[in-house]
Amino acid sequence: MRFSRLLAGGIAFLACHAALAQTPSYTGVGRAPTKEEIQSMDISAGPDGKGLPAGQGTAKEGAPIFAAKCAVCHGANAEGAKIGPRLTGGQAEIDSLKTMQPVRTVGGYWPYATSVWDYINRAMPRGNAGTLTPNEVYALTAFILSKSNIVKEDDVMDAKTLPKVQMPNRNGFVPPRYQDVVDEHKRGCKQGVCP
Ligand code: HEC
Repeated sequence: MRFSRLLAGGIAFLACHAALAQTPSYTGVGRAPTKEEIQSMDISAGPDGKGLPAGQGTAKEGAPIFAAKCAVCHGANAEGAKIGPRLTGGQAEIDSLKTMQPVRTVGGYWPYATSVWDYINRAMPRGNAGTLTPNEVYALTAFILSKSNIVKEDDVMDAKTLPKVQMPNRNGFVPPRYQDVVDEHKRGCKQGVCP
């Protein structure tokens, strides 16, 4: 009895497995997504600018939007506040990356300006992501970059100009080396930061 029940279970498992291996037919289930639905999810923007939508904005245009939608968490000049981290950065932050207390900000750490666009577009304002128009995201990106003196107040950011912005820490990234990983402990590294 016990054996036959086990056997029956095994057969049921096998049958289930075979069914999963077949190409499923979804006839009558769901519907094809609309072009708009696909577009609303297809939002990745890469370093080469691929994926950035039409639109544009300057830091000047971004200032009032930042004041209204971002400053409460990130400070009036993106210098950081209680809730949101500091977004600006320069040589001092880049120098800090070699220390045990690295300050990793958008201005002083991020290698690509397109990532700033992508991040804001998909994640900010926190709790209200997805509410900004492409023009607003371009303007906010320009505003944050201008606060780190990476672009000027009137520089127009769009799908063509944004990938060309040279971030200060662009060349601060090196591919991980196996020997470093092995030696991390000996070298006194803590949580990926080495003296
Ligand atoms: C309710 C608070 C809040 C608001 C409003 C907000 N942010 Fe943020 N933001 C955060 C927090 C907190 C983080 C840190 C990442 C996290 O925990 O999600 C963050 C992270 C970021 C980062 C990435 C920083 C990094 O170095 O990782 C950017 C860029 C950014 N916010 C831009 C904006 C912009 C632009 C707006 C306005 C449209 C905005 N944020 C509005 C709270 C906020």
